[in-house]
Amino acid sequence: MATPMKARDTFPKLKMYIDGEFVDSASGDWFESFDPYTAKPWCLIARGNAEDADRAVKAADRAFTSGPWPALNASQRGALLRRLGDLVAENAERLGELEVKDNGKLLSEMAAQLRYAPSFYHYFAGLADKIEGAVIPNDKAAFTYTLHEPLGVCAAIIPWNSPLLLTAWKLAPALAAGNTVVVKPSEYTSASTLEFVKLIEQAGFPKGVVNVVTGFGPEAGQPLIEHPLVRKVAFTGSDRTGAHIYSEAARDIKRVSLELGGKSPNIVFADANMDNAVKGAVSGIFAATGQTCVAGSRLLVQRSVHDEFVERLVDFARTARMGNPMELDTQVGPVTNLPQYKKVLGYIDVAKGEGAQTVLGGGKAQRPECGDGWFVEPTIFTGVRNDMRIAQEEVFGPVLSVIPFTDDDEAVAIGNDVVFGLAAGVWTENIRRAFTMARRLQAGTVWVNTYRALSYTTPFGGYKRSGLGRELGQEAIREYLQTKSVWISTAEEVANPFVVG
Ligand code: NAI
Ligand code: MG
Repeated sequence: MATPMKARDTFPKLKMYIDGEFVDSASGDWFESFDPYTAKPWCLIARGNAEDADRAVKAADRAFTSGPWPALNASQRGALLRRLGDLVAENAERLGELEVKDNGKLLSEMAAQLRYAPSFYHYFAGLADKIEGAVIPNDKAAFTYTLHEPLGVCAAIIPWNSPLLLTAWKLAPALAAGNTVVVKPSEYTSASTLEFVKLIEQAGFPKGVVNVVTGFGPEAGQPLIEHPLVRKVAFTGSDRTGAHIYSEAARDIKRVSLELGGKSPNIVFADANMDNAVKGAVSGIFAATGQTCVAGSRLLVQRSVHDEFVERLVDFARTARMGNPMELDTQVGPVTNLPQYKKVLGYIDVAKGEGAQTVLGGGKAQRPECGDGWFVEPTIFTGVRNDMRIAQEEVFGPVLSVIPFTDDDEAVAIGNDVVFGLAAGVWTENIRRAFTMARRLQAGTVWVNTYRALSYTTPFGGYKRSGLGRELGQEAIREYLQTKSVWISTAEEVANPFVVG
C-alpha cells in the first residue's frame, strides 16, 4: 500500500517532542498514519528508535533530578495540572476531531471523551497536595514517619482506541506525584498526542517533564521499557504485549501497571428491565465498534427469555447507522487499523467454523456509506459455547457471542470461566441478586443495570489476566509513589553498636 512519493510530500509531518522541542527522529525516517474511514494515509509521523528513546529518557531524568520541577511544591504541581485541564477543555473539539481522523471512532464519542478528559487532570491536580504520610508509633526510641515520594521517569505506553483519554489516566497521577514521563502513543494514532503535548508547554510545565516518542512498538517502545533509567512502565494494550513488558521490567525491577483488556460477560436475567438490557447489550459491544477493553463481548442470557431477548436485540442492532464517523448521527464507525480489521474478520470465520449461528451481520460491511473504509457489520452469534475460541479470546471488534444460562450459579460459572477479569455487567431488578452477583463475579469492575460507566473518582483495572494495578481514583496515585520510612532517634546515646535491636 505504498503511497507515491509526490502525494506523500503533501502530508503534514508530525515531529516527536523531546526536552521541550519538536524534533525529527534520529534516523530521519517517517511513517504514514491512516484515516480508517478512507483507508488512506493522511499524515507522516517521525519514526523513532533506540536513540530517540534514550534522548527522551535522559531528558526526563534530568528534569526529574534537577531544574525547576523537583523544586516545585505539591500545590504548584497541582496548579500546573489544573491549567493543563483547562487547556484541554478549551481545545476539546479540535483534539476530538483529530482523534477521529486517526482512529475512526465516532466524533460523538471522541468529543465527549475530550470534554470529560479535563476532569481527570483536575481531579489529580486536587490530589497532588493531599498525599500525606503518617507518623508511626514506634516501640524503639525513635520518631518515625513516612514520606510518599515519586519514582522517577515513567514510560506511558498507549494504545489506539482512546489515545488522549488513556494518556490522561497515566499522565495526571504520574505528574501529580512528581514524576516525569515519556509517552509512547500507538503507531496507529500518534497525531492527537503530538497536538496535545503543545498544551503541556502552554500550561507551563518545565521542559523534559513530558516527552513524546513516536514509532513502532519494537523500535520505539522496546528501548523505553528496557531503559535502566525508566523506573515504571504504565501500559494499556494487548495481554501479549503486556506480558512481554512485565517480563522485561523484571530485569531492572521496574514497577509496572498493566491494563490488558478482557472477555467480559454481560449477564441478562429474566427479571431485568428488558428495554434497558437491550440498550446495555448494544452499548456493551457495538459502541466504539467494539474496540474497548471493557467490551461486553459475551452476552449471557437466561434461557427463559433467551429467544425473545435475542430477537429484540437483533431488531435494535440492525438499525445501527454506519458511515462517516465525523457525522454526529453515525452510530457504528470503522475499525481503527488494517491488522485489526483482518483480525476481526478472521474471528468471524473462526466462530462460523466452530458452529456458531450468525443472526446478524457476519462479515465486512459493503454499504455505499462505508466507502473503502475498514467497516465490519455489527455481528451477533448465537449457539455459542463458552469453550469456543470466540467466547475465550478478545476480538476487539463489533462481534457479540450470545450464551444461554439456566440459573445464578451457572451465570457465575460461565461468567468467570475465562482467563480475563476486567469487567462484568448484570441486568436484574432484584436487589439481592445484584449484590450477590457483584460479589461473585471475578472482575475489577461490575456494573449493575448500566455498562461502560467510568469516573475519574473510581478505581479501574483488571482481575486475573486483565492486568495489574489500578488507574483512576485515589488508588491510582499510589502506583506512581514509593514509601520512605524516616527514623529520627530520640535516644541519648547509641546503644551497643554490635547488636541490632
Ligand atoms: P499492542 O498491545 O501491541 O500495542 C499497544 C502499545 O504497545 C502500542 O503503543 C505499541 O506500539 C506498544 N508496543 C508494542 N510492542 C511493544 C514493545 N515490545 N515494547 C514497548 N511497547 C510496545 O496492541 P495492538 O497491536 O495495537 O493491538 C492488538 C490487540 O490488542 C487488539 O486486537 C486488542 O485485542 C488489544 N488491545 C487492547 C486494548 C485495551 O484497551 N486493553 C487497546 C488496544 C488493543
Ligand atoms: Mg491512524
